[in-house]
Amino acid sequence: MAQLLVYYAHPGHRHSEANRAMLDKAREVSGITLVDLYAEYPRFQINIDREQSRLLEHEVILFQFPMFWYSTPALVKEWEDLVLEHGFAYGHDGDRLSGKTMMLAITAGGADEAYSASGYQRYPMRTFLTPLEQTAVLCHMTFATPYVLYGALRAQANDQVEPHAAGYARLLQALRDGRYDFAAAKELDVVTAPDLDQLIEA
Ligand SMILES: Cc1cc2nc3c(=O)[nH]c(=O)nc-3n(C[C@H](O)[C@H](O)[C@H](O)COP(=O)(O)O)c2cc1C
Repeated sequence: MAQLLVYYAHPGHRHSEANRAMLDKAREVSGITLVDLYAEYPRFQINIDREQSRLLEHEVILFQFPMFWYSTPALVKEWEDLVLEHGFAYGHDGDRLSGKTMMLAITAGGADEAYSASGYQRYPMRTFLTPLEQTAVLCHMTFATPYVLYGALRAQANDQVEPHAAGYARLLQALRDGRYDFAAAKELDVVTAPDLDQLIEA
């Protein structure tokens, strides 16, 4: 069993399709900690002590958010800026997150093919995530392969939201229970719902 902390961050939750469905599924998973960052900090007044305590109490830290301008929604950045303090997360004696895992669950409007050198986004998804990956590494954490839904704006019409959300619940349960094969996932650039069968032990 691994203590799993899920940070959900969507400033437009009431208009969301993909993340809303994922969050609804996540709420049904017992034995995990789920934090809705925008609901908890609508004025961006992040309680640093509370967040650092949460980090210390969990082993796997997962951020779920829609990709906004090739990055996180602003409150996740604010959380990083304030919570990952020198002396706590990095720098001299800053080893409190050592050995923990950071994982992302991202929805992106762009299609899979768009995120390539020949596509209109011009770079693979992982290139846009390198700041987060390096943040994890600097904080002595392992950066796990992200769980991604591409084409999120058309996903509802394409009947992809439900399988992605159901896969998300399976993923969270597997992370909680220590049944997720991080090493096999590391071979992939991103994990999508169909990949989960080969990554989750029965
Ligand atoms: C302000 C803003 C910025 C966005 N930036 C990106 C982006 O950089 N790349 C991308 O693929 N999609 C981008 N999108 C599309 C969102 O990722 C997409 O609307 C979201 O993943 C859909 O999930 P939801 O149904 O939960 O809202 C952006 C959307 C908004 C509103």
